[in-house]
Amino acid sequence: MNHAPIHVTRTFLPPREEYLHWLDKAYSSHVLTNNGPIHRELEETLRARFDVPHLRLMANGTLALQLAIRALGITGKVITTPFSYVATTSAILWEGCTPVFVDIDPKTCCIDPNLIEAAITPDTSAILATHVYGIPCDVEAIDAIAKKHGLKVIYDAAHAFDVEYKGKSILAYGDASTLSFHATKLFHTVEGGAVILHDEEADKRLRLLRSFGHVGDEHFSLGMNAKMSEVHAAMGMAVLPHMEKNNTERARLCATYDAHVRPLPIMRPEVPAGTTHNHAYYPVAMANGKVREELKEHMARQGVFTRRYFYPSLDALPYVVSAPCVQSRDQADRVLCLPLFNGMSEEQVKRVVLALRAFFNGPVPAEN
Ligand SMILES: Cc1ncc(COP(=O)(O)O)c(C=O)c1O
Repeated sequence: MNHAPIHVTRTFLPPREEYLHWLDKAYSSHVLTNNGPIHRELEETLRARFDVPHLRLMANGTLALQLAIRALGITGKVITTPFSYVATTSAILWEGCTPVFVDIDPKTCCIDPNLIEAAITPDTSAILATHVYGIPCDVEAIDAIAKKHGLKVIYDAAHAFDVEYKGKSILAYGDASTLSFHATKLFHTVEGGAVILHDEEADKRLRLLRSFGHVGDEHFSLGMNAKMSEVHAAMGMAVLPHMEKNNTERARLCATYDAHVRPLPIMRPEVPAGTTHNHAYYPVAMANGKVREELKEHMARQGVFTRRYFYPSLDALPYVVSAPCVQSRDQADRVLCLPLFNGMSEEQVKRVVLALRAFFNGPVPAEN
């Protein structure tokens, strides 16, 4: 078998001349960073796209989380999900707070709101939950608990670009949401991210935090450098016009996967009713960790590379203290993400599907 490998993801690149068009603007303005014209245009275009009051570009999605925590004045304990990328937890720790892990609902892989209240103590100040794979958390339940207990809510929406829930952007919920625009994400700026806030004062603090804490010669607060450059914003402007087409393509790829996966002994997370999904990932759960490992190895032998996403369950990180979150550890043991990217050919989808079917049903005849 001499096929080219199929990787789990592949960065979408707009036509080169479209990126160059935006780079030429940076050359003309001679401004390469510090809130330049392309940065301002991307920031306002995204803010309007999601119809949110404040959206600020950041150097990456990890700093977006850290500065959102700081801008909201969050201290002490933060209730969070163990089933996410490590940055969700590391941002909490980096900001001097303590993560308190609450297990997930295995149906959606998002934090289980029914378990949150029991984890609240007098020094809990916030909930930081992830819309895993772009599947919305139970935002109504979480927001109600937060209101009742006076907690702030941040949603890690790194996977949730263009996701809508009940007719509005998922970014409209909570006190803050954060996005990642890393090259592997649906919408990207090579490296980058954003913070969405609903409160004007918090947004003011965020802008200072992002840019050394000063405006001109006047210093207001501690700050750092979390700015996005013009060169990165230029990639965002070049990618943006392709989003609708790319979203449609991913929906079609996922529909093909769905048709072939349905008859197999594979579980898929549930997307709540009322969601306009973005098909960011194609996670599949096996019956147990042994089957997952065998499938991963089998697919790799066929040149199809899957990813354990997420692994490990974050309550098992060596630098946190937590009781085991049973559901999250179970998912982390059983889940793989299948290859999914814009530009994936029918031939590539067919190879993934044939490799899957061969694993569950024995070898597939050559003419298939
Ligand atoms: C859920 C989640 N949160 C945060 C991040 C961090 O984003 P970045 O890589 O832009 O720092 C990622 C990145 O993959 C992620 O998947």
